[in-house]
Amino acid sequence: MKSYENVVIFDHPLINHKIAILRDEKTCMKEFRELVEEITTLMTYESLKYDVQTVEIEVKTPLETCTQRVVKDDSVVIVPILRAGLGMVNGVHVLFPLAKVGHIGMCRNEETLEPDTYYCKLPNGIENKLVLVIDPMLATGGSAVDAIALLKEKGCKNIKLMSIIGAPEGVSRVAEAHPDVKIYVSTLDRCLNDKGYILPGLGDAGDRLFGTK
Ligand code: PRP
Ligand code: URA
Repeated sequence: MKSYENVVIFDHPLINHKIAILRDEKTCMKEFRELVEEITTLMTYESLKYDVQTVEIEVKTPLETCTQRVVKDDSVVIVPILRAGLGMVNGVHVLFPLAKVGHIGMCRNEETLEPDTYYCKLPNGIENKLVLVIDPMLATGGSAVDAIALLKEKGCKNIKLMSIIGAPEGVSRVAEAHPDVKIYVSTLDRCLNDKGYILPGLGDAGDRLFGTK
C-alpha cells in the first residue's frame, strides 16, 4: 500500500499479541469482547496522546497542595459505527469516562458491499469536539467514508478514525476521501476476499462480539 501522511499503523507487539487471540476461530464471545475493549484502550492511549485537552486542578497531597493537569474528558465524543463499533466503546470510556457517545448505524449491502445508513443520533455540540469514530474492521472503507462524510455534514471538523484491522483497499479509500482525518489501524492485513471480508482478518466482528450468525 502507498504510504499516507494521515495513516498510522501501530504494529505494536502488545497489541499484536492480543490480535492473534482475537483472530483465532476458537476464541469465545466473552474473550473476544474483552480483547476488543483492551485493544481499544491501548489504541486510544496512543492515538490521542497529542490531542487530549487538559485543565489544571488543585490537589491536596498528605504533605502539601499542588496543581496538576487532568484530562478534560468531555472534549471527546465517541462515535461507534453500529454494530461492531459498539464493542470498542467501553475501551475508550476506560480513559474518557465522561465522553458522550453518538451512534451511526450502517450495514453493508451484501451484493454491492456499499453501506446503508439506518440510524444516526449524535450529541448536541459535537461539532466543537474531537470526534473519535470507532469500528474494528476497515474493509472496503465504504462505511468509514460515509460515516465521516455524515459527521462533516453535521459540522464536525476534528475527526479521527480508529480501527483494529484494516485492509489496504479500505485504508487507502478513507485516506484519499478524507485527507484531513487521521486514521489509526493496529494492523494492516493482506487483502479482501470477493465478499469484502478481510484476509486473514478475524471473520465477522459484529457476529463474534454479539453471538449472532
Ligand atoms: C462491518 C464492520 C464495519 C463494516 C466494514 O459491519 O463492523 O462497519 O463491516 O466494512 P466496509 O469497510 O467494507 O464498509 P457490517 O456491515 O457487517 O454490520 P454489523 O457491524 O452490524 O455486523
Ligand atoms: N466486516 C467484518 O466484520 N469483517 C470483515 O472482514 C469485513 C467487514
